[in-house]
Parts: sequence; C-alpha cells; structure tokens
Amino acid sequence: MEQLESMPLRAAFSVTMKALERLSRTGSPTERVAIQRAMATLRTSLPRAEQEPPEHDPPTALEQLHLAAGIVEPPSGEAAALRAWGADLVERRKAAGLSRTVLAERAGLSESTLRNVETGRRAPTRTTVMHLQSVPELRIDPTPIGDHIADRRRVHQDFSPNCWLTPEYDALKLHNEMTMLLNGRGGHLEQTYLYLDPSSAAAWYSIAEQEDYTVSRMLMPLDNVAECITERAGSVGLDVIGLGCGDGKDEVRLAQCLLERRRNRNLRLYLLDISQPLLCSAYRHAAEALADRSTVSIYAIQGNFHNLGRYTSLLHSPERSHRRRVVCLFGNTFANLQNEILFVRNSLMGFAPGDFLMLSIGETMAPADKPDEILAQDRLLAGRTSETMSTGRSMQSRMFCDLLRRYIHGFKSTELTSVLDFAACPVPGSYAADIRATVKMTSGESKHFSIAYIKRYDQRLLDETMLREGWQAVAHWRMVKDYHPRRLLLYQRIR
Ligand SMILES: C[S@@+](CC[C@H](N)C(=O)[O-])C[C@H]1O[C@@H](n2cnc3c(N)ncnc32)[C@H](O)[C@@H]1O
Repeated sequence: MEQLESMPLRAAFSVTMKALERLSRTGSPTERVAIQRAMATLRTSLPRAEQEPPEHDPPTALEQLHLAAGIVEPPSGEAAALRAWGADLVERRKAAGLSRTVLAERAGLSESTLRNVETGRRAPTRTTVMHLQSVPELRIDPTPIGDHIADRRRVHQDFSPNCWLTPEYDALKLHNEMTMLLNGRGGHLEQTYLYLDPSSAAAWYSIAEQEDYTVSRMLMPLDNVAECITERAGSVGLDVIGLGCGDGKDEVRLAQCLLERRRNRNLRLYLLDISQPLLCSAYRHAAEALADRSTVSIYAIQGNFHNLGRYTSLLHSPERSHRRRVVCLFGNTFANLQNEILFVRNSLMGFAPGDFLMLSIGETMAPADKPDEILAQDRLLAGRTSETMSTGRSMQSRMFCDLLRRYIHGFKSTELTSVLDFAACPVPGSYAADIRATVKMTSGESKHFSIAYIKRYDQRLLDETMLREGWQAVAHWRMVKDYHPRRLLLYQRIR
C-alpha cells in the first residue's frame, strides 16, 4: 500500500485493477459481483480522478482514485491538520534518531498505529498521545496536541450523527392518533401524547424551569446514587439510559456525578423520548454540559419506551456484557404509566443481571386501604396545592387544558378534577390521582377524558413487587419538599 501511494495515478490504477481482477476469479458469487461493481466504478472514475485539482497537499494517486470513486471524503481542514501533525511527529522521531519500529516499541504502540498517525490517516487518540509523550526525546508539547484533540472532538460533536429514529417512530401517525382520540367520545389519554406537539413540549419545558421543579430536582442526591452504582458495578463501562428524559437534566447530572467518582470514565448517555422538541433540548443540554468529557458519547433516540424491547442496541447483548446499563425514569414518568408491573416485565425485559434501574416516585400520604385518610392528607386529591388540577390555575393544568383546546373541534371550555382511583394501580399499596377533564362542546354536549394518572407508592410494597419481577432494591433516598415526600429508588437486576 505504501508503494501504491507514491505511484503515478495510471500506474496505481492498473495495479489495483489487476489485483481486483485476480480476486474476482475466486470467492462466492456475491463477492465476485461486488468486486466487479467496484472495478466498473474505478474504471469510470479514472478520467475524473485525473482532472481533480490538487487541494491542500496534492493527494496521492490512491487518494485521487478513492476520491473520484466517492470512496472517501475529500480532505477537509481536519485531514490537513492531521497530516501536518503526523509530519511533525515524523520529524521529531527522526531528530531523535529513532526508527518507526523502535519508537513503536518504546511508546508501547503497534507499528501500524504509529504509521497511521504519522501519515495523518488516523487521528491520534488521547491514549496514543499519552504513549508518545512517554518518550522524552520526542519533546512533545502536550498543549497543542491537547488543543488539536479538543478541536477534533468539537467537530465530532457538531457533525457526527447524534440522533436515532427508531424504526417504527412516526410523528404524523402519533399526531393523528391523538387527534382521533380527542375527537372521539372520550377515554384515557396516555402520557405518550401529552408532550408531543411543540406547544405542549414548550409548556412542559417551562414547568421544569420553575424554581419549584428545579429545587425538587436538586434534592435528589445523585452523587450518592453515583457512589452506590460505582461500588456495585466496579470498573466497567456504563450506559446511562434516560427513558422519557424530557429536558434530560437529571440524566446529565447523574452522568456528571458518575464521571466524578469512577476510574473508568467510559460512559454512553442514551436519551430516549417520544417528544421531538424535548429530545432536541435534552440533546443540546447534554452536548453542552458534557462537551469537555472526551470519554462520553451522547445519543438522542426518538422512540417509544413501550417498544424498548425492540431497540436492541440499548439492551444487554453478549458483545456488551462487559458494560452495565443504568436505566432511569425520572420525574413522574414511572408513576404516570398505565400498568407499571407490565412495563417492568415487558419493556425492561432486555436488561441483564447486574444492570440498574433508577426510579423517582411520590410516596403515599396514607395507607391505600384508608381512602378517607388519603383524601384528607394528600393535597393532590384534597385540592389545596399548586399541584392541584381542580383549581385550573397550576401550570400543568393549563398545559392540559390548552392541549384539549388545540385538538378538540368544537371545544368550548373544560374543567379538571382529580379523583382517587385504585383501578389503575397494580402495585399493592399504591393509589392514583386520576386527573379527569370534562370538556363542554359548542354543541352543548360534554366529553370526559382521563388525562393523567399520578400514582403514589408504598416503597416497601413496591420493592416487593419489583423483586418478584427480578429487580432487587439496592438503596433508596427520601426527599421532602413542602408537604409531600418523594423517593429515589435504585434497583439491580438479579434474574
Ligand atoms: C413527566 S415527563 C418527565 C420528564 C423528565 N424525565 C423529568 O423528570 O422532568 C415524561 C416524559 O416522558 C416522555 N414520554 C411519555 N411517553 C413516552 C413514551 N411512550 N416513550 C418515550 N417517551 C415518553 C414525555 O415526552 C416526557 O418527556
């Protein structure tokens, strides 16, 4: 390959074609067809390759062929910078009187890695640079190299693909389903639909920006959670997976806490949400907040957490068994599910023993078998807090009312009430405030919707339920703000 690179274009072309011709006589029929297609592409590309004007340093013959055939990207500023850095390294090596073989051995690198870095074909990783810095004669100044790598990272952050659309994700279909549901006779509007359109997403985003919400978030002792995960997981790479991440702020803070504590800083942050506007803001926040963390990769996933079992790249697999996953459902996401047990059983099926699950939940204010006490003590149901839907004044109730107004044809007015409900509570000891909307229509008719379940849990009974589903309680933390206690629960999969 080295020789081929220094050849004139036509000579390189004919050597390559001969080699391909030889290959095309062996191999499977599919391989032969692929090789013949490559030969045809190269043949038609040769005239263009010969006309290609030199850019930066004149490309080698092989590069010209590849360029013309569309096999590699044209050299960018970054490629030129890498070549310059590589050439500088070659000069330093020669000035130190070292051959490539000797330097590779002294730096503890493979000769091919060193060759790739010297020729600018590959960017040096942080580890490669550290290895090279261990050879004092090279007198490699860490600053420009550090800058160079930081620059490369910024380019990567800005331009590399950063969002996956799950195969079944279809925003128009979701929009149509919601419109049909709201224009039917009534029913339950699952949380999947509540934050979908930009107006609902913006309303939710502003709620999460309020001091009240921010203080509740900051009460979560995520540094203690990180310590606990670190102790239990040992020194393995971690995949933090935020399900229904919203603005992603809790997941990012957890990632930061983990990075502070762990020796192995290899961390992937997967942000999954059904709402495109919220996911976008979550990704941007994560990219900014973790920009200086070279060991973190961030992925935004536009998808439905009810279909998590289909998203195999997030799940445990034999190739990723050396990593641990930390699945997070922050806010009321878990408590808003229609059937949490079936969610844990079915949607979290793809996680393996050793993986973690982090839930944030509201605590029961009275035992589930004492409805009178619940009604007296839980202000969400008794109608005395800003959380209350019945006043129609809280930001969340406004968000729900505006959503109904936007989508229901013939909408005149709506009234929200919260009703104590047990029918939607499969976890023993839990109860729900079922937020119901009565919509008055211009026609004089009324429709009834259930637009959210906000459930409260008895932590001990929830832990028992989770254990039956294969998730063992590892630790929990209690946070009290105003009148209502919440808990952060950490589970680890045992079977
Ligand atoms: C109650 S908000 C909580 C947001 C965030 N975790 C927090 O703590 O502020 C619920 C989030 O789950 C998302 N969500 C709802 N249903 C979903 C689904 N089926 N799949 C993925 N995300 C969903 C919503 O878009 C929203 O961002």
